[in-house]
Amino acid sequence: MFPRRCRNLVFGFELIGAGVLHGKRILWTFLEIKGERMEMRNKFRKSTTLRCDSQSKCLISVVIGSLMVCILLLSLLSPTSRKNEMGQGIQIRTSHHLHLRELQEVEEENIQIPPPHKRPRRAPKRRPKRMTPLIDEFLDEDSQLRRKFFPDHKTFIDPMITGNDSMFYYPGRVWLDTEGNPIQAHGGGVIFDERSETYYWYGEYKDGPTYHAHEKGAARVDIIGIGCYSSKDLWSWKNEGIVLAAEETDETHDLHKSNVLERPKVIYNSRTGKYVMWMHIDNVNYTKASVGVAISDYPNGPFHYLQSKRPHGFDSRDMTIFKDDNGTAYLIYSSQGNSELHVGPLSEDYLDVTNVARRVLIGQHREAPALFKHKGTYYMITSGCTGWAPNEALAHAAESIMGPWETIGNPCIGENKMFRLATFLSQSTFVIPLPSSYPNLFIFMADRWNPADLRDSRYVWLPLMVGGLVDQPLDYNFRFPLWSRVSIYWHRKWRLPQGWNSLK
Ligand code: GAL
Repeated sequence: MFPRRCRNLVFGFELIGAGVLHGKRILWTFLEIKGERMEMRNKFRKSTTLRCDSQSKCLISVVIGSLMVCILLLSLLSPTSRKNEMGQGIQIRTSHHLHLRELQEVEEENIQIPPPHKRPRRAPKRRPKRMTPLIDEFLDEDSQLRRKFFPDHKTFIDPMITGNDSMFYYPGRVWLDTEGNPIQAHGGGVIFDERSETYYWYGEYKDGPTYHAHEKGAARVDIIGIGCYSSKDLWSWKNEGIVLAAEETDETHDLHKSNVLERPKVIYNSRTGKYVMWMHIDNVNYTKASVGVAISDYPNGPFHYLQSKRPHGFDSRDMTIFKDDNGTAYLIYSSQGNSELHVGPLSEDYLDVTNVARRVLIGQHREAPALFKHKGTYYMITSGCTGWAPNEALAHAAESIMGPWETIGNPCIGENKMFRLATFLSQSTFVIPLPSSYPNLFIFMADRWNPADLRDSRYVWLPLMVGGLVDQPLDYNFRFPLWSRVSIYWHRKWRLPQGWNSLK
């Protein structure tokens, strides 16, 4: 029923790479030059816009225009690389490929969508405007493809079974912790705790019944708390328990089980020695639209809940926090009815926002922000706003975390188009940076929500790489890409390069 086609793939590349073909080396070299030029142009962006006269603008345009023509010609002469940039062909040769053999397997599946039939009455909170047959099928609890989207529990990833499958990620499969229970850490994030040299994964613990509080309300699970898992290798996770628990009796408490507690993220404050958790706090109707803060002395809790607020006086729903290299941390949240994002620095102790914030991606209706930084540039992956239903991811880039942010296109590569337009049936939650020996490689963390049974939502972890040209014209500048492409590569099965975590 699902004819499969396998392709070999070598991932990871740098603009100038050893071991590439002569022709390609020239191309990459030009790209590198272009990168520098772009950077220059970009640094001067403000003054160019505000102060330059039209002659100098014109001169810069001519110089950069000529450069672009060269690049385009070279790109045309190099069909393989062009194809790669567009994300269709997947044969990227690189200086990194020796390290990244384990990422080689990509599998495409040609899913045959069955003919339409009567759908269940219950619909998710916000449906995509034009639902694709795939998403329709995904949301149908009686779909013949159910097992494909949510492989049954016999195919779980079990860190206690050593063998050929050891260390392999299988996006969408049930993932067991070291005690043999499915990991409960949805909408989560991961930190590397330098003091214990351990990774901690925090997420929504949703191991309760799914129900609808109102006829039109989104599917929900009562708050149980925030689950925490620890790992040395990002694959085998030990359950550290619920590190922030629901309030059972006090109905006025933010964490009362009847409310909403989503998307917890933790960072460490080296000034105060505290682990600080930020999360989306809401009521059952999602009208409270606030952020909450909790604090702990240890990465594995317990966390002490402090308070919730509407940051900068605005509604705040999906959110994340990001700690920059210089220790400044930022809150990023969907606001104004999810029509835009706001970004602003936290106070030095990370327990509050400051009075500085910027509106970004205005009118773009994005949520589920996941931020990371690569070679001084900030990147963000977001989803559209369709509740638990999957939709198209977009990548955005910025020189300053405070913006302006530019949208650089859909980062998903591989599988078929329907899957790429639905973020492989998942929604972004976090991007994990790897040790500095893999500067271009990140793990994209996403949730494959199961609105019929939220506790059985799955994790989609995939390799994310930065490099190459973006494939979408930008909002402004000279109508050529200013940023590197962000690529999230579909893998049915993959693992990190062996020994990756011994090279810090
Ligand atoms: C999504 C959001 C999730 C959750 C869900 C509820 O848009 O990303 O975190 O809030 O809506 O329907």
